[in-house]
Amino acid sequence: MAFRVPFAMPRRLLSNATSFGPRLAIASRLSCMSNQRGLATVVPPVTQDATGSKGPTAMVFMNMGGPSTTNEVEDFLSRLFADGDLIPLGRLQSYIGPLIARRRTPKIQQQYADIGGGSPIRKWSEYQCAEMCKILDKISPETAPHKPYVAFRYAAPLTETMYEQLFADGFGNGKGGRAVAFTQYPQYSCSTTGSSLNELWKWRNRLEGKRENGESDPAGAIQWSVIDRWPSHSGLVEAFAQNIEAQLATYPEEKRDKVVLLFSAHSLPMSVVNRGDPYPSEVAATVHAVMQRLNFSNPYRLCWQSQVGPSAWLGAQTSDTVQEYVKKGITDLVLVPIAFTSDHIETLYELDLEVIHEANSPGVKRAESLNGNPVFIQALADIAREHLQKGELCSRQMTLRCQGCKSERCLGQKQFFAGKDNASMVL
Ligand code: FES
Repeated sequence: MAFRVPFAMPRRLLSNATSFGPRLAIASRLSCMSNQRGLATVVPPVTQDATGSKGPTAMVFMNMGGPSTTNEVEDFLSRLFADGDLIPLGRLQSYIGPLIARRRTPKIQQQYADIGGGSPIRKWSEYQCAEMCKILDKISPETAPHKPYVAFRYAAPLTETMYEQLFADGFGNGKGGRAVAFTQYPQYSCSTTGSSLNELWKWRNRLEGKRENGESDPAGAIQWSVIDRWPSHSGLVEAFAQNIEAQLATYPEEKRDKVVLLFSAHSLPMSVVNRGDPYPSEVAATVHAVMQRLNFSNPYRLCWQSQVGPSAWLGAQTSDTVQEYVKKGITDLVLVPIAFTSDHIETLYELDLEVIHEANSPGVKRAESLNGNPVFIQALADIAREHLQKGELCSRQMTLRCQGCKSERCLGQKQFFAGKDNASMVL
């Protein structure tokens, strides 16, 4: 949710998309895009002909993504600033978005250059998904084989690229099969998971035929289900707690329980918070569960980072919080990124190179991100197995729209993923 480097599809691509003709033309174009950009994952073809088995199962990790090289920054920013779910810019979004993206590109390119030339989020996402699938094959043999895919909202591999790979691997397009959209945002926001689901729903409709509420599925379309939130899963909590304990262990024993833990999550515009977005309360749930696991061993606060622009955002800001505490003489602080599952520009640049650097105090440190943490990857597999065994299409919570939501897109997307038996619950 990098509002800091604020994004949808660039207008150039958008105009192409609206002129898409028959499915064949889409498939041909996407195939070409896939070849140019590289596919989400290389998996052997599967067949859906094996009746009597619940597998194979496609496991699709959804996240915002990030540019793998500095050359991808402008496209990334263009998509990000064009996404009204993430950065609401009103009716002029498609004009203002690209302008902001172009203006910010050089600065953001420099930031990616400073963290090694690109975002590691694709590397980590592909690794986490592939490793999770290996575990799932063992602990959920009835839904095996599990095939890993990644779908990013603003960078390669995009949702349409992932969908085309599903077709190439024998899912859908008349062959049926099951796919799980697994959000990699542990806490649900309509700006993040909601936006990724809107995008998946859009491409599903374009590529596999629109399913109207109450209508039966087009024959042989992919059967989607969604893991839409997991803010206080015990495995996630354990992985965060272990990383915090490892960082606390670097302080002298006599100081250790006085170190302040500063949980930091991406902020939201107050217009989104006041609409009723569930993200702030779900982030708070994660923080509370982690502190419970740590037996409330240290004082702690939750703060919010990466706000941009003049409008009101949820605070207190992480950078201000660190400065204020250091000014007051509290110089032993551990920053804990609590809303992302791998390193990204907000940890590697904003926290490490800006906030910690500016604090200029050796006691200000950061807990490691989850990245390749085996406890975390086991948690992903446990969450997925539970979802597969339950057989639910999405959580009950996902069927409820925000109190202030007026979006027809949200309504249609939630009705689709809730399934026709539950669609009437979505209001
Ligand atoms: Fe939250 Fe539409 S904005 S459901």
